[in-house]
Amino acid sequence: MALLVINSDTCKRDGICTAVCPTGIVRLESPESVPTVAAEDEAFCIQCGHCVSVCPHGALAHAVLKPEECLPLQKELLSDPAGVEQFLRSRRSIRAYKQEPVDRDILSAVLRLASHAPSGHNLQPVRWLVIHDSAHVQRLAAMVIDWMRHLIAEKAPMATMMHMDRVVAAWEDDWDRICRSAPHVIVAHAEKDNPTAPAACTLALSYLELAAGPHGLGACWAGYFNAAATFWPPLQSALNLPEGHTNFGAMMIGYPKFKYQRMPPRHAPIIDWR
Ligand SMILES: Cc1cc2nc3c(=O)[nH]c(=O)nc-3n(C[C@H](O)[C@H](O)[C@H](O)COP(=O)(O)O)c2cc1C
Repeated sequence: MALLVINSDTCKRDGICTAVCPTGIVRLESPESVPTVAAEDEAFCIQCGHCVSVCPHGALAHAVLKPEECLPLQKELLSDPAGVEQFLRSRRSIRAYKQEPVDRDILSAVLRLASHAPSGHNLQPVRWLVIHDSAHVQRLAAMVIDWMRHLIAEKAPMATMMHMDRVVAAWEDDWDRICRSAPHVIVAHAEKDNPTAPAACTLALSYLELAAGPHGLGACWAGYFNAAATFWPPLQSALNLPEGHTNFGAMMIGYPKFKYQRMPPRHAPIIDWR
């Protein structure tokens, strides 16, 4: 079966699919012909779905991306710029959580949205580890504290730079500054040698954080946790990621204890116009 099947009755030969194809394999040979993909070019398709999604006439079918999987855009649900501004500016790092688990179904829905983040070459390399058991989260947080104690004893510059003495003192005072007593932690991991993985994991986690809010959830980057997972063998063993994978980011998630009423300012962008 050909990669693209074009309905020659509805295709308007407008060249839009040709213009948006990221690898330039959708060709319009003449103004009268319908677009085609040469057999030898099919392997260059990155299955991004742009050709199917952009066609205003629904004239294209892709062999891999089934039409029913390319959902129609519901424009009436899209926010105006003011709504988008509120949405983006009201996102907050949440550091106080209800001690209430989040259903796996809800976390799965949020992760499904996170999978729509961009990835280099559309490789979609991100895999997820969800620590759903809150007692397990606390055991892992204790390992991060062990790592910090180790670095403090070694007088490692990272310990000073990250104020680890204060984080450990807080832990000993029953205040969890590692996972903020969140019920769940989500780790984004991927093949360590995949050059697209760091950006893909970061972007997917950002999508995850943004997608959490409308579900009534809050999230926060778990930077200490991720650093320990990168450097501390006992935590690496406990996470037991697939062979060849490494963590590229982690996030705590749960129901926020408090609601924010205002949106704090941030630095104005520093722009060098050329
Ligand atoms: C890579 C990264 C790591 C972070 N690690 C932590 C962390 O370990 N603990 C924490 O409480 N917040 C962490 N944060 C959250 C930042 O402190 C937070 O984004 C910043 O203070 C701005 O607040 P806002 O996210 O509410 O706008 C991290 C953020 C990023 C981007």
